[in-house]
Amino acid sequence: MENPEVTFGKAKLSNAGEINFLINSFTGKGVSPKPFSEVYSSIREYFIAKIGREIVGCIALHIVLDGYAELRSLAVKEKHQGKGIGTRLVEMAMQEAKEMGVQKLIAFTEKPGFFKKLKLEVVDRESIPENVMMLAHDIKCSRYPNCKTELISCSIENN
Ligand SMILES: CC(C)(COP(=O)(O)OP(=O)(O)OC[C@H]1O[C@@H](n2cnc3c(N)ncnc32)[C@H](O)[C@@H]1OP(=O)(O)O)[C@@H](O)C(=O)NCCC(=O)NCCS
Repeated sequence: MENPEVTFGKAKLSNAGEINFLINSFTGKGVSPKPFSEVYSSIREYFIAKIGREIVGCIALHIVLDGYAELRSLAVKEKHQGKGIGTRLVEMAMQEAKEMGVQKLIAFTEKPGFFKKLKLEVVDRESIPENVMMLAHDIKCSRYPNCKTELISCSIENN
């Protein structure tokens, strides 16, 4: 059988439950769990990948402060990993960041290697303004301050 077609787009309110389930299925496996209410109220931040009616991947672009935005909640169902879905989701979030006038993207990740080819490189936490760090995901993480994530960052060129 041929590879089923993957479609990409912005999430709708009706997707919130399935996105929430997907995110929380990776608890302890690289993605911080979230309550349903948080996904629902920030649904406009999410991009999704679908195969047919099934959501197989998601990512959120969260605007932080002072030109910074954060990539959050990137997850691709195990069965569909390695097919370029995660890369495409990051690219979509980056494109929107560019259109919004975001200057710097950050993310906290246990998998910095995955992001390297997308130009997001590991940086010192001290290199990010304190007010941005205070508002970023990391500080609210249930594992903070023992979280093993690396901070990665890249500049967004706004032409
Ligand atoms: C990380 C994740 C989102 C990648 O999604 P994906 O759809 O499998 O990724 P893609 O198919 O677009 O890209 C795969 C590429 O990244 C590479 N890659 C994947 N994980 C990697 C890692 N931990 N380190 C280095 N490279 C990695 C693959 O080798 C592959 O390289 P290639 O394109 O040269 O063959 C997915 O594995 C996932 O959901 N993991 C569990 C949750 C998680 O850790 N989320 C990230 C939180 S920041």
